[in-house]
Amino acid sequence: MKKKTKIFVIDKNNINNELIKKASNILKKGGLVSFPTETVYGLGANALDKGAVKKIFKAKKRPADNPLIVHVANKKEINKLAEKIDEKTIKLINKFWPGPLTILLKKKKIVPDITTAGLDNVAIRMPNNKIALSLIKKSGVPIAAPSANSFSRPSPTTAEHVVFDLDGKIEVLIDGGDCDVGVESSVIDMTQKIPVLLRPGGVSFEELKKVLGKVKVHPLIKDKKMKNIIPFSPGMKYKHYAPDAELLLIKGTKKSVNKKIKELFLKYNKQKKSVGIITYDKDNDYTADSVRFIGSEQEEIAKNLFKCFRDFNNQKIEIILAESLKTSGLGLAIMNRLKKACTRIIKV
Ligand code: TXA
Ligand code: MG
Repeated sequence: MKKKTKIFVIDKNNINNELIKKASNILKKGGLVSFPTETVYGLGANALDKGAVKKIFKAKKRPADNPLIVHVANKKEINKLAEKIDEKTIKLINKFWPGPLTILLKKKKIVPDITTAGLDNVAIRMPNNKIALSLIKKSGVPIAAPSANSFSRPSPTTAEHVVFDLDGKIEVLIDGGDCDVGVESSVIDMTQKIPVLLRPGGVSFEELKKVLGKVKVHPLIKDKKMKNIIPFSPGMKYKHYAPDAELLLIKGTKKSVNKKIKELFLKYNKQKKSVGIITYDKDNDYTADSVRFIGSEQEEIAKNLFKCFRDFNNQKIEIILAESLKTSGLGLAIMNRLKKACTRIIKV
């Protein structure tokens, strides 16, 4: 029988140093510890220990060609892991660390190839969560940590989500309550002449632009191909962060989206499919098997999105109809996750 994962409950405002020490000892010995960050829960191992990092890929069933983010507990650590750190990068670090920004830099030899999936660059971030910071500090090594979900499932924003995906596969899970941001960190490539945003996340494009002047957005994020109906093959690498259901993302004016969602509900209801709806306006008069108002402000929507996907899984929802939202601020990250999870975008 597989060994059960130990759960350490820690209050982020009143850190239990004994438990942090126990968890850090596991990391030092090459074990796996899941811990909360301000974005999502991470699945941590010593980033400099090949054997430990290998365990992450196994526990998550993560393809070996997908590199990991290395987490540090203080800004200076970056000098040990990366080279060619320019003025712009220093500015970013000073402005956004600790926080939801991952910075891609040329790696130093000390970072093993398995951590960066054989790439020359290493992704580094300093999380803004006291539990995460104490744990990294106490373990005395940088911590590689992807989101603590099974491959292709939504990132976990509560300890319960981690238990669901990884119970028995990791030594310890630190339950530090719900994550504040709810979507993952922004990833920016600082090895290019003009920095490139590779993943929109907790730090917005506008905020990055303010500090950097010029920033490019990776073409996959821009996704200009929003025609009337765009089918995505579910087998494509593109589908990600996915709920079990088929997700249809409806784009248009508030009124046209509302009308289309009602129409689609009737269609799928007739086919005896169970339907879930995601809305950002609590006054929308939808009916469905599950109607989820997940917030009207971007911060609230981001915080609740992945939890909502998982709740729909538990309710065995077969079709999700999701409203789209503006891509300014955190909206770019939220729409990116919805697009990655969806099977079709319907423009009305
Ligand atoms: O908020 C977050 O970033 C969370 C928490 C736990 O810190 N972590 C997270 O890790 O979302 P993960 O592995 O689920 O996503 C990391 C993303 C992936 O898209 C990966 O391909 C990219 O960052 N990445 C990591 N290292 C990279 C590298 N060396 N070059 C290019 N992309 C990299
Ligand atoms: Mg992930």
